[in-house]
Amino acid sequence: FAIRASIVHSTRDSNVSTRGSFGCADLEVLDDAIVVVDAHGIIAEVIKDAASGQSSSKHMPEDIVTHNLGPSRLLLPGFVDAHAHAPQYEFVGNGFGLPLLQWLDTYTFPTEASYAIPHDDHEGTAAARVRAKYERVVAHSLKCGTTTCSYLNCIDGPSSLVLADVAHKAGQRALVGKVSMDANAPDFYRETSADAAAADARTFVEAMLERYGQENSLVMPVVTPRFAPTCSSSLLAQLGALADEYQLRIQSHLSENVDECLWVLSELFPGAGSYAEVYETHGLLTPRTYLAHGVFSTKHERRVMEAAGASVVHCASSNANLMSGFADVRAWQDDGVTVSLGTDVAGGSSISMLTTARRTLENSNSISILRRQMAAQDVICRVEAERDEERRRSLASAWTSPDAPPTLSVADVLHMATRGGAKALNLDDVVGGFDVGMHFDAVCATFPDVPGGDVLTPICLRESDGTTQMLEKLLLCGDERNIEAVYVKGTRRI
Ligand code: GUN
Ligand code: FE
Repeated sequence: FAIRASIVHSTRDSNVSTRGSFGCADLEVLDDAIVVVDAHGIIAEVIKDAASGQSSSKHMPEDIVTHNLGPSRLLLPGFVDAHAHAPQYEFVGNGFGLPLLQWLDTYTFPTEASYAIPHDDHEGTAAARVRAKYERVVAHSLKCGTTTCSYLNCIDGPSSLVLADVAHKAGQRALVGKVSMDANAPDFYRETSADAAAADARTFVEAMLERYGQENSLVMPVVTPRFAPTCSSSLLAQLGALADEYQLRIQSHLSENVDECLWVLSELFPGAGSYAEVYETHGLLTPRTYLAHGVFSTKHERRVMEAAGASVVHCASSNANLMSGFADVRAWQDDGVTVSLGTDVAGGSSISMLTTARRTLENSNSISILRRQMAAQDVICRVEAERDEERRRSLASAWTSPDAPPTLSVADVLHMATRGGAKALNLDDVVGGFDVGMHFDAVCATFPDVPGGDVLTPICLRESDGTTQMLEKLLLCGDERNIEAVYVKGTRRI
């Protein structure tokens, strides 16, 4: 089939946009284009100007079904959520403002523990209960336009296989991780030894590869040590060896919270040069590794990540909700590290990548506002204190805004939500944009035709709005009510 539409996507090799300006080089905006998709769900051709290009097309048979999306719709690549905790979805919205380590003990560990499927679940009651919960998470994530999601589950292998099965049946491209943790966690939610935990991780990975290991599978396993504090050195090393043996992806957390960082560096792994080096010395820092947060990462740590080819997942909503801090996305990018976005449910308060993109933009603005406000406040205090009119005037006129780092643009967050996520997950030849040969993973966004005409849809367009304005409105104000269709590898799933 073919889809004719207004299309926007990030260009392949851009990492950082032209600073501070919109409509910058890393976006390709096509007001009336056609994407031709073959029978395997692969993009066969992109006709950039539908009106003139259709007749010269090589890949568009005369009888092909063409869906014309028409005005008030926008086609963009499916979103990549690089970090979401499936069993935490049920307590989204609870625990706001609790710091990470307390939040884990109060909400996270008890909830995740309840997802275990006991060995004596012969009737399948527990399995059916967790399946129903996963179905909700996956359905909502897909409805929000997330065509690829990297899930962290709980420590239970059987329930992690159920999550994989749910994603597989829903048709979402999913990386699924059984969490590994054998230390510094309550007895009710901790694996009993490093060897037992490593054996469980292996059992899970091998079962996943057996079920979904075929070349065309959308579902894949990912090695998932929870984070350095809850893993013994022996477990980390065994997980590193497992990832190496099967060349698996690795996901975890990095330098998220101040107490966590100090705990790791001064108590748990005092020999480590940085938090990331704990993973590195255990064979877990690879080009297939993506680590969430990096709020407190130093230049040194960013260099370690860059040298290893690992990437960071920015979780803006979670960083603010748990009061972890503001991650410096620009610093990561300037140091050559790929940045993707994660909803980080339930630290993050929405499974929607549109909401996450918005929080990313808002938080980025907040950092700049705060820096400028502090400098401006200082000038105002000094002007206020002066009694000499001349001196007041000179102080005031000397005020210029300090060199605040440029804030992130709409183009930047679209890039992080699509190409950046694909790169992090080593899927950048497969998804993230509309390039010939890539899988057709796409979101069709819709806007009501009549201003105010559809109260159920949060945004309307003005007549003068073009493709760029649609994108801006979607990322700043849209939600899943604006998402009309979602395709994964050419199959419509929503
Ligand atoms: N660090 C270790 N576990 C978690 C988790 O579940 N969520 C977040 N945000 N950080 C973590
Ligand atoms: Fe997380």
